[in-house]
Amino acid sequence: MLEVLEETRALLEELGVEKKLYAGGDLDVRSPITGESIGAVATTDAAHANVRIEEAQSAFLEWRMVPPPRRGELIRLLGEELRANRETLGRLVTIETGKILSEGIGEVQEMIDICTYAAGLSRQLHGLTIASERPSHHLLERWHPLGVVGVISAFNFPVAVWSWNAALAFVCGDSVVWKPSEKTPLTALATGSLFERAAKGFGGVPSGLLKLLVGGRAVAEALVEHPQVRIVSATGSTAMGRSVAPKSAGRFARTVLELGGNNAAIVCPTADLELALRAVAFSAMGTAGQRCTTLRRLILHEDVYEVFLTRMKAVWETVTIGDPRDPHTLVGPLIDRTAFEKMQVTLAEARRDGGLVTGGDRVVLANYPGAYYVRPAFVEMPSQTEVMRRETFAPILFILKYSEFEDAVRLNNQVPQGLSSAIFTLNLREAEQFLAADGSDCGIANVNSGPSGAEIGGAFGGEKETGGGREAGSDVWKNYMRRVTGSINYGESLPLAQGVRFDV
Ligand code: UN1
Repeated sequence: MLEVLEETRALLEELGVEKKLYAGGDLDVRSPITGESIGAVATTDAAHANVRIEEAQSAFLEWRMVPPPRRGELIRLLGEELRANRETLGRLVTIETGKILSEGIGEVQEMIDICTYAAGLSRQLHGLTIASERPSHHLLERWHPLGVVGVISAFNFPVAVWSWNAALAFVCGDSVVWKPSEKTPLTALATGSLFERAAKGFGGVPSGLLKLLVGGRAVAEALVEHPQVRIVSATGSTAMGRSVAPKSAGRFARTVLELGGNNAAIVCPTADLELALRAVAFSAMGTAGQRCTTLRRLILHEDVYEVFLTRMKAVWETVTIGDPRDPHTLVGPLIDRTAFEKMQVTLAEARRDGGLVTGGDRVVLANYPGAYYVRPAFVEMPSQTEVMRRETFAPILFILKYSEFEDAVRLNNQVPQGLSSAIFTLNLREAEQFLAADGSDCGIANVNSGPSGAEIGGAFGGEKETGGGREAGSDVWKNYMRRVTGSINYGESLPLAQGVRFDV
């Protein structure tokens, strides 16, 4: 395997990122694989951020007049670039986030999928014709481009989440200003470069259609506070959302908030345990527990508790931990030391609450002493204590026992977050009840598949402290457009609505 730094440079070059963009800047970028420095990117200051937002606004004024199917052509070309560079960008995602290669490449596949979806959608941005109560009147609804879309993305899905927003925003006629996580600016630069290639192939794309803001809180705030940013789509912690939501609301901007998750799975007595075990293993340990859809709470029926736990133990104790570029690895590193420390604090608190911890210790790889690899942990808990009600972004799976179905659903719902959930059962009643109005209170509820790994065709997002936002498929495109209700009077008289008379 190549050295991490050497490989990063080669990938960035192949993806067409100019060297000056990742060398000599003030933001030190590290790979979680080894902990070493792999780039130094120049940050944007708040004043410059405002200039870029204004450039994006000018681009919007032009782009909104391009017919939607033509806008779709740009996204088709972006999809082509991503297809041609699937492995290259996927490897860079792996280096910058530490997720295993099949997940790194899977993330790029998710971008390709949303481009395909958005290109088709560009011919389907449809309004309505509504029955009018007035004679000789045509009542209608149509959708127009909204404006500048601000995207704040997190380190764990550094490029896919941007694409869920951006692919839709571009076909809807908007421009995009993107603030990637400070931990993952290189994949953002690479994505920007592929976007430029697509724009060149398209010809005549206004230059400010996509603008990047690299930096921390100051640039994020510039984005959230700028009056020309009509919608802010932010992915990250609930704490971040608590700051973004009131600021955006204060100036009546829209938000799409994708905040913390605390996802549970219920394993019922009739469950196919082999299938459930595979789903639980991927959802809990995949991405080293650093997805917002990661399985964090497992609610096992008392009849299957012992047998399931025994099988889990064998999997947890033998899962391959290591360099995520190695095809045999299933669990890569945590993003950084802070993540490792938070994991240890949570495990200590769980022990104080009476939890029985298996795993969770650091695994130091021979050549990578500066990186934070851990054996995924599971914790048998006496009850759903406070430590289980918050999201710790690490591979910790809390386990509870239940006997009555209603109690399992109650446990699923009794946390502040509401992103994803799952049930494993072959009992039709339980499956339907889980999806019913008094079942799971989450934005995503799956039967016989885990809570993570959602497809782009559905609306992605969750309720309560998860923020209520929805991204990707279904009718989510309406977020990025403004609705006009119109009426046309093609008659010769002026009937008033509600039968009002006003004869002057
Ligand atoms: C995230 O973790 O921020 O459903 C997004 C999933 C992925 C997206 C996760 N499609 O796990």
